[in-house]
Amino acid sequence: MTAALEAVGISVSFGAVRALQDVDLAVDQGKLVGLIGPNGAGKTTFVDAITGFVQASGSVRLEGREISSLPPHRRSHLGLARTWQTIELFDDLTVRENLAVAGGRPSLPSSFAEIVFGRQPRAERLAEEVLGLLDLEGIAEEMPSDLSQGRRKLVGIARALAGKPSLLLLDEPAAGLDTNESRDLGRRLRRIVDGGLPTLLIDHDMGLVLGICDEIYVLDFGKLIARGTPEEVRRHPDVLAAYLGKSAAEVEPGASKVGAAWAAVAEGAAEQ
Ligand SMILES: Nc1ncnc2c1ncn2[C@@H]1O[C@H](COP(=O)(O)OP(=O)(O)O)[C@@H](O)[C@H]1O
Ligand SMILES: [Mg+2]
Repeated sequence: MTAALEAVGISVSFGAVRALQDVDLAVDQGKLVGLIGPNGAGKTTFVDAITGFVQASGSVRLEGREISSLPPHRRSHLGLARTWQTIELFDDLTVRENLAVAGGRPSLPSSFAEIVFGRQPRAERLAEEVLGLLDLEGIAEEMPSDLSQGRRKLVGIARALAGKPSLLLLDEPAAGLDTNESRDLGRRLRRIVDGGLPTLLIDHDMGLVLGICDEIYVLDFGKLIARGTPEEVRRHPDVLAAYLGKSAAEVEPGASKVGAAWAAVAEGAAEQ
């Protein structure tokens, strides 16, 4: 089966900074793929390269179609959806309206049906579907500014889904969430992916990423240093070293905040 996303040899430079060097990454149909790495590793730059927001070299295929020469809006029309590290919702629209304006990709047959049969407009139907999928019906009429950070994050994801994408790219959706919210987000993300939407998940919450992803890629200083199942990645010495800034042999649980979190994960404490 053609991969949902196939990125080959992606490189990005900002002046002298080589933010990404020859990165290969694929997201297969039906899969939830994680992308992790320390701050500044190049994760957001990778999403920017795939979506066309920075200039990159290399090949990007979306369901087999080469999109690397297309501008961001064309890539988005072809089914590429992303969320941003900071959420932007329309604060003067309700949750439901925020989803409805996100639209649905234009497609002639359904618009035709809408005209001929007077069906509920497609964007509104999609908004309903997404509200149901994410269990957000209860807050559909609320204003985003009245919601918790966790709920706002979910609405941001819902809005990306309302465009009926073929691939979802999530940049730190769990940032600012507490443990319970993050776990809850994980269950919903898994449901979205199992419902047929392949997804690339970037996050610092190791419990979340290791707990729900099928496969994980690890970036450090712009280069891929590991790729594998959560089990393989959590044992990978280069990954431990990248996170702790030490060789794996020197790793002491509790040496730092990240170290403690990672050690907990390595010991399998993060059950999802
Ligand atoms: N627009 C930019 N101009 C210059 N340098 C940038 C820009 N965006 C990112 N960088 C640099 O590229 C590297 C990767 O950044 P980023 O992709 O944001 O990392 P991550 O998301 O993994 O934390 C960092 O060294 C960062 O400072
Ligand atoms: Mg980032």
